[in-house]
Formats: sequence, structure tokens, C-alpha cells
Amino acid sequence: MTDIFVINGPNLNMFGMREPEIYGADTLSDYEAKIEAISTELGKTCRCFQSNHEGELVTAIQNAARAGTVDTARAIVINAAAYTHTSVALRDALSLFSGPKIEVHVSNVMKREKFRHESFISPVCDGIIVGLGVNSYLLAIRAVNDLLDQS
Ligand code: DQA
Repeated sequence: MTDIFVINGPNLNMFGMREPEIYGADTLSDYEAKIEAISTELGKTCRCFQSNHEGELVTAIQNAARAGTVDTARAIVINAAAYTHTSVALRDALSLFSGPKIEVHVSNVMKREKFRHESFISPVCDGIIVGLGVNSYLLAIRAVNDLLDQS
């Protein structure tokens, strides 16, 4: 079982190329290396997963909740990207995961278009960290680490 499952949604595999003025120059691999380093520093295992497909993201969350899968996890950090603003399916999947869950965004979605101000998943997450670039993920790892240690 992994301690922290980090899930990234559509277009986040394009970090580094995609709108660098918003998302910066780091690639997803750069992000994942930093996420893995801080998890190790905190004494936790972590697994990173990215998909452009809503159903694959739903299945990954279901597997995180199930015993004995490669994705079985104690906590989730998720950047659902555009699906944040549209997906009842992702919200329902997150609802069935009983461990700590943190929603993250690289950009400050509240400073952007109105359609990004609504999140379907925030109400089923324990916390939200937005607008801090890679630090959104690193702070989320610290937060779930504390939540896991308290549980
Ligand atoms: C994002 C914000 C979303 O609105 C957008 O669709 C993304 C990235 C972020 O990390 O800032 O793809 O989740």
C-alpha cells in the first residue's frame, strides 16, 4: 500500500510546454521528482499517476480505496485540472475514498475565468491549496502527512 497517491488530470502532462506564463517551465517529471523527494523526507511512500481520461482517473481513485491493488493508498492529493469544474463522476469517486484528500491547483483559479471558480470536488476534500505552483503539491504532501500521522 502506498501512503500518498498523487493524481493529475488532463493536460498536466504538458507542464513545461503549456502556457508557461501560467504553469511555469517545470515539466510533470520535475514536479513528480519534487513530490517524491518531500514524501521520502517525511518518511512516507508516494505514487504519482496522470491521465487525460476521466474514466481512468475514476478507476485510479476506486483502486486507491480498494485493498490489494497497485494504487491502494492511505491518502490522495489530486489536481483534477479541467475535470475539477465539470466532473460529478470524479466527485463521487472521491466520496468513496475514506482517507485524507487534498485538492491542489498550480494556478490561482480564483483569479482566472469565472468557470474555474467552481469546483465539483472541493466539498468532498479535506483541504484545498491553489495558486502556489509546485508548492501547492508540496504543501499538500505536508498536510496529508500530518493528517495520516494524526489518524
Ligand atoms: C489547474 C486549473 C484548471 O482550471 C485547469 O483546467 C488546469 C490546471 C491548475 O493546476 O491550475 O488544467 O488545475
